[in-house]
Amino acid sequence: MQQDTINLKNVSFAYRKDRPILKNITMNVPRGKITAIMGGSGSGKTTILRLISGQIQAEHGIVNVFGENLRNLSAANTHEIRKKLGLLFQLGALFTDMNVAQNVAFPLQEHSNLPQSFINKVVAMKLEAVGLTGTQDLMPNQLSGGMARRVALARAIALDPELMLYDEPFTGLDPISLNTIAMLIKKLNTSLKQTAVLVTHDIAATMEIADYIYFMANGEIIAHGTPEEIKSTTNPAVKQFINGEINGTFEYKYPSKLSYQHYLGQA
Ligand SMILES: Nc1ncnc2c1ncn2[C@@H]1O[C@H](COP(=O)(O)OP(=O)(O)OP(=O)(O)O)[C@@H](O)[C@H]1O
Ligand SMILES: [Mg+2]
Repeated sequence: MQQDTINLKNVSFAYRKDRPILKNITMNVPRGKITAIMGGSGSGKTTILRLISGQIQAEHGIVNVFGENLRNLSAANTHEIRKKLGLLFQLGALFTDMNVAQNVAFPLQEHSNLPQSFINKVVAMKLEAVGLTGTQDLMPNQLSGGMARRVALARAIALDPELMLYDEPFTGLDPISLNTIAMLIKKLNTSLKQTAVLVTHDIAATMEIADYIYFMANGEIIAHGTPEEIKSTTNPAVKQFINGEINGTFEYKYPSKLSYQHYLGQA
């Protein structure tokens, strides 16, 4: 039985030829563990999740998920992998013409032949897990931002996927909801042995629930280790990030030759 749910080997990727985004990324996600990816905005975290979920293809290197090389996968195998994978998108929108219950039920209806009465029970359980009991009949425009995020999470975990990819699951949540969701991620991991990749900027939550952390800057992995190892790192960029310092070696700017004045029409 394979040890790792995901292996990335020397992976490079660019959306545009002249601008490499990921450079020689090697990363392992062990089965049943929570692996976090942290790093500055634009460093390539969401791009890695897109590679793992097969939305984009690596230019160089190998992306292995559930022991399958995504490069030479049949449509049938892709479908099998999709069934085992839950995704919480960073900008994950709900279906605006469906109520909360229909949104959460969607993956169950797509991938299973369960009777409606059973689906209703699963929906109620998942909504309870994200702290939204009784919201079944609300439409997305009747939800707050944080509630919508949690409904999206309930939808992502509806099928109890073996592998969950979370892209910024804590964004827009108050501290209590944030802890509820962090504990839910941990619980899914311990009780279902669910493997998770967690992309987040929340350092406290990551240190609490992650088993291993990869740190990215400008499309490269600059550090990796257990939360304890990361806390005691001597890497200046990682230290700067963890402590939220403004000045340091971290590059947060989008590489552009056009100046602020240009956009004011003065260039
Ligand atoms: N569809 C796209 N087409 C072209 N460039 C893109 C596309 N998506 C992302 N990029 C670029 O790729 C780089 C990495 O983006 P990515 O979304 O992976 O960053 P991130 O680490 O998830 O950042 P954040 O923390 O802000 O979500 C950015 O410079 C971004 O502008
Ligand atoms: Mg992102």
